Amino acid sequence: MRDLFDDDPDRSRRFSLEACGIFLDYSKNLVTDETLGHLLALAGAADLTTRRDSLLRGDKVNNTEDRAVLHMALRNVGSRSYRVDGDDVMPGIRAVLDRMRAFSDEVRSGRWLGYTGQRITDVVSIGIGGSSLGPKMACEALHPYRQGGPRVHFVSNVDGAQLVQVLAELDAATTLFVVASKTFTTQETIANAESARAWCLASLHRDEAVAHHFVAVSTNAEAVAAFGIDTRNMFEFWDWVGGRYSLWSAIGLPIALAVGMEQFEEVLAGACDMDEHFITAPSERNIPVVLALLGIWYNNFGGADTQAIIPYDQNLQFLPTYLQQLDMESNGKRVTRDGEMVDYQTGPVIWGQPGTDAQHSFFQLIHQGTRLIPTDFILPMRSHHPLEGHHDKLVANCFAQAQALMRGRTEEEARAELAAGGMPSEGIERLVRHRVFPGNRPSNMIVVDQLTPRVLGALVAMYEHKVFVQGVVWGIDSFDQWGVELGKQLAASILSDFRQAKGSPRVDSSTAGLIRRYQTTTTD
Ligand code: F6P
Repeated sequence: MRDLFDDDPDRSRRFSLEACGIFLDYSKNLVTDETLGHLLALAGAADLTTRRDSLLRGDKVNNTEDRAVLHMALRNVGSRSYRVDGDDVMPGIRAVLDRMRAFSDEVRSGRWLGYTGQRITDVVSIGIGGSSLGPKMACEALHPYRQGGPRVHFVSNVDGAQLVQVLAELDAATTLFVVASKTFTTQETIANAESARAWCLASLHRDEAVAHHFVAVSTNAEAVAAFGIDTRNMFEFWDWVGGRYSLWSAIGLPIALAVGMEQFEEVLAGACDMDEHFITAPSERNIPVVLALLGIWYNNFGGADTQAIIPYDQNLQFLPTYLQQLDMESNGKRVTRDGEMVDYQTGPVIWGQPGTDAQHSFFQLIHQGTRLIPTDFILPMRSHHPLEGHHDKLVANCFAQAQALMRGRTEEEARAELAAGGMPSEGIERLVRHRVFPGNRPSNMIVVDQLTPRVLGALVAMYEHKVFVQGVVWGIDSFDQWGVELGKQLAASILSDFRQAKGSPRVDSSTAGLIRRYQTTTTD
């Protein structure tokens, strides 16, 4: 890469793109114009444009579940028309947005009162996977925009430790629960919601209190009613919204409660900006398409198994986790849309954490390990906090990491540095190899002016479209998730085995032994 930069002083300008408040410098990648030409041809050969149009038309692109995929409609603040089975979905979406606005305004202004007449100070969102990760990530990302709203907490794990810890700080009289589940059958969510209701009733004593302290977000009105939540307190969404794409739907209610509906609508508007860019920009100028193709370059032609996401923004601390579900649940597939086994790699392992913390934990391996780890750096140019000097240091570190990954340090440079530090020659020979950085380690620099709600929306939509493009090239269904089923089924069966005195004869000796050990431990 040093040579590529030396040979072309214009490289950083030519290999960068800007749209929707996002500047992408992809010049520190192991690509030339020729490589990019081939990758763009690959996208063309995979019929990317046709597939994108099919998605927009509301075709059942999630073919294994026979569902349309129209999360773009949820943030359609423009004038596009989105239809499912010929029906315009926009009136239904706008009606739910109106209800979210009215409700979040009531709670935030103190007009929505708890059962004992007190205003709501805390919201507990109960949900898991796509019904939690998006709102949790966005509430944290938009923390600087919280003004006077309730505190928002997230409970997802069936491990009761999480719920107990959150509730320990709260008063039932001033707490509102948002139970978020597309299906309203998810074991973890229902278990947490039932325990939350019991906690609420233990303090408020009357069943009528539930209506003041519980609302639901779901596609399943029947199950919501069966749980005991009045469906007038339910915010609806639709089966054409995939769980991990549902942040833009009423699943985003905790965001509206935390920072206000205007800010949530800004998030939607930012995503809509990115949708327009994705739909209209030519592939070679299209940020999600270019990111997707670079990922494919390393994944399928460079032997990379993973992709690191390193936000240099503490408020984006939950973005890597959010993107894990988005990417790995979407593209962790081994069968094509037509049911053929693939004979190439599909989705990479997504991982990461904010810089500069990441520099002091795993960056050693990215710099000098044996693996190729393409890295996305995400950086706001301006911070929201006033602390002098911090942001300069943060930005300098971010730029330095990308530069070090790209340039590395040659043996000659390492030797010269050690000599300049006064090290005797035998010491230099002993250490020099350890001090060499191979360089040529690719990264994208994704820069925003400031992490505003609008930019956040654009950023998340950018990754969604990237995942879509990669799924198209790999020929897989990015919108189903059959891989999560087996574990769920077996857990239900093991749970029933716990109640059998002798355990179940149906399981292997390892699982049977573990079940017996659990039974013995818990009956002691
Ligand atoms: O575990 C997989 C999954 O189905 C995700 O796709 C989904 O986001 C999550 O579970 C939660 O599902 P639900 O919203 O129906 O509770």
